[in-house]
This record gives sequence, structure tokens and C-alpha cells, in this order.
Amino acid sequence: MAGKDYNHLFKLLIIGDSSVGKSSLLLRFADNSFSGSYITTIGVDFKIRTVDIDGERVKLQIWDTAGQERFRTITSTYYRNTHGVIIVYDVTNPESFVNVKRWLNEISQNCDNVCKILVGNKNDDPARKQVDTQDAVRFGESMGVRVFETSAKENVNVEEMFMAFTHMVLRAKKQSQNRAERDEAGEGHRQHQRPQRPRPQEEGKEMLLSPRQTTQPHSAHRLHKKHSNKIGKTCLRRKVFCVSNCRCKCLKLSCAIHYAKLPTNRRQLVLPYCWL
Ligand code: GTP
Repeated sequence: MAGKDYNHLFKLLIIGDSSVGKSSLLLRFADNSFSGSYITTIGVDFKIRTVDIDGERVKLQIWDTAGQERFRTITSTYYRNTHGVIIVYDVTNPESFVNVKRWLNEISQNCDNVCKILVGNKNDDPARKQVDTQDAVRFGESMGVRVFETSAKENVNVEEMFMAFTHMVLRAKKQSQNRAERDEAGEGHRQHQRPQRPRPQEEGKEMLLSPRQTTQPHSAHRLHKKHSNKIGKTCLRRKVFCVSNCRCKCLKLSCAIHYAKLPTNRRQLVLPYCWL
């Protein structure tokens, strides 16, 4: 942690329709305060809070975006370098829930791979609730997104939601780091291996060996040994698979003899790949 007071820095983005309570959720999480008056967000705003997750310091830079269409002119720049997106709807406003699909589309148009969470805010007055929890959960499952219901006003589930989401983002980061390390290790391992003989495109496909290769001691001999091991005592001593361009797959001649007898322009062994 040399020079910095955190182990991880995440940029989170809060999106959703206007007036669903995005700023209020951020205010509650970052400052533990709430204001009953409505001041619409213009453009974007952000707050910072650092939390401890399993002994690690995670600094959250949380961006609160404007829900109103007229302020959403620089959308794609909001999404740049974002680790997680919180999509908020208002449980007392079904239209804001219907619009969640539109927000999810916007995410997929602007981010390749990002953590998401769906939050039904203003869950503090059952008489006013119009979006059923089960419907929201079912929808979340169909989209592969976890759902939380919160109240910024009554401070219900806000901390839990942000912490669960931070866990999720951290887990995703570690998984992608592990994947990258594994890939790197695999690459290193491959580089340390001896260079392989060129492989044909498909198994079982015939492989052309140049005349120079066929005169090397290994080619016919190793081929013979490998094959005799495979089929036991059957005498295949003199059997060499396929010779020259004649398309014949099995000639009972040793490679060397046959090779010597071939006209120069046909000195090319064709061996099935599975024999090599
Ligand atoms: P935009 O900035 O226009 O996108 O709105 P927003 O989504 O940031 O909404 P904001 O946080 O400004 O809240 C809108 C109104 O809803 C305000 O009057 C808040 O007091 C009220 N509000 C926010 N959260 C809650 C909540 O949990 N319960 C209730 N009852 N009211 C809330």
C-alpha cells in the first residue's frame, strides 16, 4: 500500500429514472444523511467512501448521474472505467421499474463486462408500494442481476446493498486477475516447451513429410515401433503407411526401400497424422 491508503479503488455508477432516489442513496451511504427536498442532479456528481472488506481497504468513488433525459448528453463518458453499475427504480413508481430494461440496454451498449445490481428504492411505505418484490426478483433472475429493496429515507438496507455490491465487484476483480495469471502461466509453460513438430489442422489428416525428413532415422523406424506396440504381435515390420503421391494407404515395404525406389519427383511420404 505504498503511498496510498487503500488496496482497491472502484468506480461505481448510479443510474435510473429521475427522482427514484439515486442522490439520496448516495447521500445516505456516504454521509449518512437524507433530505426530503428534491433538487435534481445536473450532469454528474460523485462522493467517496472507503470501506473494509475482509481486511482490505476498498475505496469507492461513486458517481451519481442525472436521471433527466436533458442532462444525459455525455452518457458514454460516465461509463468509462466503471467497475459496477447500480440501477435504481422507485418501488412506488411502476414506470421507473419498466424503464430498468432500457437502463440495462444502455449499460450493455457502453460497457463490455461490468457488475450490476438492481435497487428498488423508497421501500418505506407498504401502502404506496406498486412494484411487487417477487416480480422484481423474477426479473432480476432473468437478467442475471441481484435485487435489493432499500429506503434512503428510513436508512433501510442501504449499507447492506452497497457492501454486498462492493463484495461482488471485488470478487469479480479477483476472478479476472486469477484468470489473467493462469493465462500468463499457461503462456510461459508453452514457451518453455520444446518446439513442436508442425501439426496438421485436424487429427487423422494426412501429413506431408519432405524427402529430407523421411531419410532421418526416426521417421520410418519410430513409426514402425509405435505401431507395433499398438497392435501387439502382428508382424508389421515391413509395413509403412502410404507412400508418395500414389494415394495408396498401405504398402508392405520398408520406408527406406520404398523411398529409394521412388522417382525423385515422387519422393514424399504421406503419413496419417495419428501415427506420428
Ligand atoms: P435526479 O437527480 O433527478 O435523477 O433524481 P434522483 O434519482 O437523484 O432522486 P433524489 O435522490 O433527488 O430524490 C427524489 C425525491 O425522492 C426527493 O424528494 C427525496 O426526498 C425522495 N426520496 C429519495 N429517497 C427516498 C426514500 O427512500 N423514500 C422516500 N419516501 N422518498 C425518498
